[in-house]
Amino acid sequence: MYFQDIGFINNFKAHSLLTVISVILIFTSASSYGEPPIIEYGDRFHPVVGGRGMVVSQEILASQTGAAILAAGGNAVDAAVATGFALAVTLPQAGNLGGGGFMLVYLASENKTIAIDYREVAPLAAVRDLFLDKNGEVDKNKARFSYLSAGVPGTVAGLIHAQQNYGSLSLADVLAPAIKLAEQGIRVSYPLAYSLNRAQQRLIKWPASRKYYFGPDGTPLQAGSLWRQADLASTLKALAKEGRDAFYQGRVAELIIADMNQNGGLITRQDLADYRVIEREALVGTYRGYDIAAMPPPSSGGVHLLQMLNILEGWKLTELGHNSAEYIHRLIETMRRAYADRSKYLGDPDFYPVPVADLIDKSYGTRLREGINLDHATPSSDIAPGLNLPEESPQTTHFSVWDNAGNVVSNTYTINFSYGSGIAVEGAGFLLNNEMDDFSAKSGVPNAYGLLGGQANAIEPKKRPLSSMTPVIVFKGGEPVFTTGSPGGSTIITTVLQTVLNVVDFEMNIAEAAAAARIHHQWLPDTVFIETGISLDTQRLLVEKGHDLQKSRRVIGRTQTISSDGEYTYGANDYRWPGGAAIAEPSR
Ligand code: GLY
Repeated sequence: MYFQDIGFINNFKAHSLLTVISVILIFTSASSYGEPPIIEYGDRFHPVVGGRGMVVSQEILASQTGAAILAAGGNAVDAAVATGFALAVTLPQAGNLGGGGFMLVYLASENKTIAIDYREVAPLAAVRDLFLDKNGEVDKNKARFSYLSAGVPGTVAGLIHAQQNYGSLSLADVLAPAIKLAEQGIRVSYPLAYSLNRAQQRLIKWPASRKYYFGPDGTPLQAGSLWRQADLASTLKALAKEGRDAFYQGRVAELIIADMNQNGGLITRQDLADYRVIEREALVGTYRGYDIAAMPPPSSGGVHLLQMLNILEGWKLTELGHNSAEYIHRLIETMRRAYADRSKYLGDPDFYPVPVADLIDKSYGTRLREGINLDHATPSSDIAPGLNLPEESPQTTHFSVWDNAGNVVSNTYTINFSYGSGIAVEGAGFLLNNEMDDFSAKSGVPNAYGLLGGQANAIEPKKRPLSSMTPVIVFKGGEPVFTTGSPGGSTIITTVLQTVLNVVDFEMNIAEAAAAARIHHQWLPDTVFIETGISLDTQRLLVEKGHDLQKSRRVIGRTQTISSDGEYTYGANDYRWPGGAAIAEPSR
């Protein structure tokens, strides 16, 4: 066990002790292994090494929760579900009960990958022009920060579906740690205190949010203070007792409906009772001898990841050099074309015939590659017309789990913005998503991520908004070799792309792959966002090729990755946000 970031000092001694115990465990159990784990002395960054069990999430207590479930005999799905519920307690800005997401599950015994879609759905009363004002303009406040912005939540149904179909413990077992964290309380970490401070204005105006996340005088929770969440604990206990019905028909449903009725929300009893998890066929593509399993629509992540890999496969990227101008130029032009397609063709496949097979066809990748000018940028306006709006707060969270039987879970879930709509459900202790903003409110007008859409992603009752979430599992010779995913709104897909390229083309270990500087382009705005770490020389060469570069205001993505060589697991939580951790199962 190894702690990458410890968010608060009060737990430091306990953590140090655990670290010592874990190191002893790793080394004592390592002596019975054949070859020792792979540690390259030349690498600047190193993953955490464990036996075959590993959990990586954006919050340390949640990672510890998942690892403890593995140690108690649970499989990867049990650990993932426990981690997901724990994040709902410890990472309220993105972990959730009131949102939705996507989970890939690789079952080693069946050599099969399952894609679980638990994305939110639009309420029955939602109409296409829900967010247009009387002048026909998009009312962003309504779309992002009102009761109307919430889709029918899918997280509880999704996690429980995974647990009941693919877990090995009882639902009560995997919920117990989250209940304990909520009931007995956690010490507020610095990252949580910081993030609440930033979101104060938005949250404090809603009485329940004020009650849950701020002191009686309205000051945000302070780092190091004990934070108990009694209402959230009651909600989790109801789930442990009654399963999903507690949320979609029982006590929690009543609280949601009361809140909706009092505040002009659209979600009804029928919406909740009708919510369904959908198991979809995982998308599978190939790249340089690797098989990549990814999420199909209504996430755009899998389609465009595979589409971009198909374009890039035709060039010898390794020879160009990592993050050289020639390499980045090819990345930009590839991203530009994929995101242009996203705006036109992607939406909920149950409502719109998304041409998935055509988009991920190798011959289409070749055609797009052949249209790329290697000397000069192609203006986005030459690819398709569009508008140009700034990016906004990307939040979402990913976690990866690997168990000692070789089962793998790659899960990304979200309430959209940091703290979602900012509105907590009175009495239930959790925040509502603002995922309705992921729909295209008006054709040609970008959403909060600057992403455009048309009819394919227009609002319709019971439709799922288009997502960028990109959980992936990568295989070689039929065996899983690594899994990754990331938060980051529209930058999720390009973050996962660069992680795959860093590992496959540039042979980086997963910690190096996470640490390398990233770039992002999404067709519109026609701007290349770059992180710190792209040299001035490279930037100059890219500008000479006609690219408009801009330093990204935020980091681009934050991955949670696990790899395995069949003997050991290697975990890497991205360094871009403090508080996350890769935690090895403490025994083998
Ligand atoms: N809410 C961000 C996404 O689903 O892509």
